[in-house]
Amino acid sequence: MFVWAADLHFNSARTSPFQFGSSLAQRFPNAKGLILTGDISVSHRVASDLKDLHFGFGKPIYFVLGNHDYWDSSFRSADNLVREIHNDILYLQSDFPVDLGNSVQMVGVSGWYDAGYGEPGEVLMEDFYRIADLKKDPVAASRKRAEFMAAKLVSKIEFALSTGCEKLVIVTHIPPFEALAKEADHLAWYGSKVLGDCILKHAPSFKEVLVLCGHTHFAQKYVIGNILAYSGEAKRVLPVLAGTFDEATFSVSPI
Ligand SMILES: [Fe+2]
Repeated sequence: MFVWAADLHFNSARTSPFQFGSSLAQRFPNAKGLILTGDISVSHRVASDLKDLHFGFGKPIYFVLGNHDYWDSSFRSADNLVREIHNDILYLQSDFPVDLGNSVQMVGVSGWYDAGYGEPGEVLMEDFYRIADLKKDPVAASRKRAEFMAAKLVSKIEFALSTGCEKLVIVTHIPPFEALAKEADHLAWYGSKVLGDCILKHAPSFKEVLVLCGHTHFAQKYVIGNILAYSGEAKRVLPVLAGTFDEATFSVSPI
């Protein structure tokens, strides 16, 4: 069993990463690891916050970055800062699929919003001022990033299939399906259609596909074909768990 948290935002949280990790270790002594679906902190703090979290939790952490994790940096720089923090703190986006046994594998990419489920309109994200790559042309740069993320996922899917994966867990930040993003303020910046289309295209190659994402701070479940997708609950200033994932039954229990 794994524990899963979304949008912890440690840079503005009242609980420290160490305190949160320690409380998880006490509450879930049998957990094999912690899955994080992005928005952990902000760029210059992500690596140290993850180290403190791991110090408290004591088990492996599997994570992807969210949009906030790139603030005051660029895609390349922020990615480089978290690539090799610790053997037990795995950046899924740059790592091989993680074998969870019984033909279950876990892969991850941040994804990116692509204005595929809604028009860009007037609403601006703070990301557009705080992430270097988005300052010039945020809509075009976001779409390009979303396509790059989908291509990355395809290569991970192909690798997983070549090594006998039958059940795939996809960890991402931006909801790939409109149904998970619909409670959000502005659909253009809360969904990645290109990633959703990619998952829909490749899901038939697997027995089952599970998607875990964040970004909306709102717990939602969506089922389509053999795909089971969840967005995770999150609370401002109070880090909480979104759920638990049982790899043996391939099921999620939201908390
Ligand atoms: Fe986010």
